[in-house]
This record gives sequence, structure tokens and C-alpha cells, in this order.
Amino acid sequence: MDRIIEVKNLAYTYNDGTEALQDVNFAVKPNSRVAVLGPNGAGKSTLLFHLNALYLAQKGEVYIKSRKIGEKHKDWVRKLVGLVMQDPDDQVFSTTVYEDVAFGLVNFGWQDRDKIDKKVKQALKSVDILNLQDKNPHHLSYGQKKRAAIAGILAVKPEIVIFDEPLSYLDPAGQKTLRRILADLYGEGKTLLVVTHDLDFAVEWADKIIIMKKGEIFYSGDYEIFARPDMIEEADLRLPKIMELLQELEGVDLKRLENPPRDVREAAEYLNNLPG
Ligand SMILES: Nc1ncnc2c1ncn2[C@@H]1O[C@H](COP(=O)(O)OP(=O)(O)OP(=O)(O)O)[C@@H](O)[C@H]1O
Ligand SMILES: [Mg+2]
Repeated sequence: MDRIIEVKNLAYTYNDGTEALQDVNFAVKPNSRVAVLGPNGAGKSTLLFHLNALYLAQKGEVYIKSRKIGEKHKDWVRKLVGLVMQDPDDQVFSTTVYEDVAFGLVNFGWQDRDKIDKKVKQALKSVDILNLQDKNPHHLSYGQKKRAAIAGILAVKPEIVIFDEPLSYLDPAGQKTLRRILADLYGEGKTLLVVTHDLDFAVEWADKIIIMKKGEIFYSGDYEIFARPDMIEEADLRLPKIMELLQELEGVDLKRLENPPRDVREAAEYLNNLPG
């Protein structure tokens, strides 16, 4: 199976007539790291809701592991695809943080209390909020709620993990933790999709870039799109800082670079090797 996710001709219109998705097509290979980019209102969250059957296709098809998703596969899909929503308020509903994280496991059919306890504590610890386990999630700060929502997914560790804007509201330490979590999940063979407005993160992290614009896929391919300032402008994005730096350098033609550097370390290496 070389496509764990496949979306074909997907369209979705909200009740008020907003055409949020129009003829969306893309596929994702297992164990890949996909960054989904695009301006506000481009349809990113709407698209993600289709991948775990929160929404069902009005037009077109969504396949997870080659199975076409319909009403009767909702439970199956939700075990396979975990979604950390953009707004953590949509995701927390229990009276304690602990229960919120345990909820997913119970829903997955877990019964052994000791095992659940171990998993919940492990997950809370990995996002550094074990000390908040007895708190009412509604009383948490926004960033703490984000962490709680991430812990909920880490406890169950589904095969496909989707994060809608995970970096926003996380402090620098929290962002670093999230990067480590993503690396661990990737190492465990998971397929990861991250919606983000952080282009520096996207260029460093992703194997595949999907850019949405006005409900359509504007681009789907590798990170070298970031070496094309014209395309990036057309997509209403901006260049990652690394590409901006290269663009400013005299004698460097960003568009002609093969494998342009993605992060500070690679950029330093590239600059150190420049002739003269
Ligand atoms: N429940 C809804 N009812 C009507 N229109 C909606 C609803 N939810 C979203 N929309 C509209 O659908 C379009 C796509 O919204 P969506 O939330 O998918 O965008 P997004 O790319 O995730 O944006 P952001 O970067 O701001 O999170 C927008 O025009 C939005 O106003
Ligand atoms: Mg969104």
C-alpha cells in the first residue's frame, strides 16, 4: 500500500453557501511528514475534518488505507486517524485534564485501569502538564489546553496523526517539545499531517508540502517550492527566513539551487562552502 490517504475530487459547501473545498485531490504515503499551508479561510481545517470522518464528502471521495470512507466507517476511521483540533476548546469537555486524556483510551475499548493510568500519565508528562492533571480543562490557559489536547492524542497514538495549528499558543519550550513529539511519532512509523502558518517550521520538517488556496490545492510536492518566490507570492505566503536570506545574498540564484538548505545548520554549511 503506497497511499495511506487519498482524496479525490473532494468538494464541500457549508450550509450558508460557502464553498470551502472545491475539487481537492492529493495522496499521502505511509510514514510521511506533510505540512499543509495556506492563508486563513483556504479550507485547511475543513479538509482535515474529512480525514477523520467528522465531515463526510458531499462530492468526491476520501480513502484511508484504500477504504472509501462513508457513514459506516466512522468508528474505524477515528481509531486510525487522530486529530488535534485548531481550537482546543472544541476538544476538551471532561471535568479534569486526567479524565479528558483517559477518555480517548476508554473510547478505544481500554478497560484495565492501571494500564490507562500509566498511559495517561505518560502522555501528560510528555507535554509537561502532569501537574495539571486534576484541574478543570476549561480553567487552563490556552497553551495549556493545547498541550492537553496533544496529550489526548499521544495516549492513543493512532496510525495517522493530524495537528491543526499545533504551534500557535505554545511557548518556545512547548514548541520544542512538540518538535520532539513529532520526531518520535515519525520514528514510530506514524503518518503525520501538520497545518501551520509557520513556514520556517514547514520547510525544515516536511517531506511533502500541500498549499491550499481558496478551497483548492494550489501545490502539492516537495519543499523546493520555497525556492520559487513567484509561486510563494501567488500562494499568498511568504518565504521562509532561510530562503529570504539566500535571496538577499549576492551571486546566489535561489531558483537555481539544487537541494536548497532548509534550516540554519544547512544554510551555514552552504555559506561556508561558497567560493571566495
Ligand atoms: N461552520 C461553518 N459555516 C460556514 N462557513 C464556514 C464554517 N466553517 C468554516 N467556514 C468557511 O469555510 C472556509 C474555509 O474555512 P477553514 O476553517 O477550513 O479555513 P482554514 O484554512 O482552516 O483557515 P485558518 O487558517 O483561519 O484556520 C472559510 O471561508 C470559512 O469562513
Ligand atoms: Mg483552520
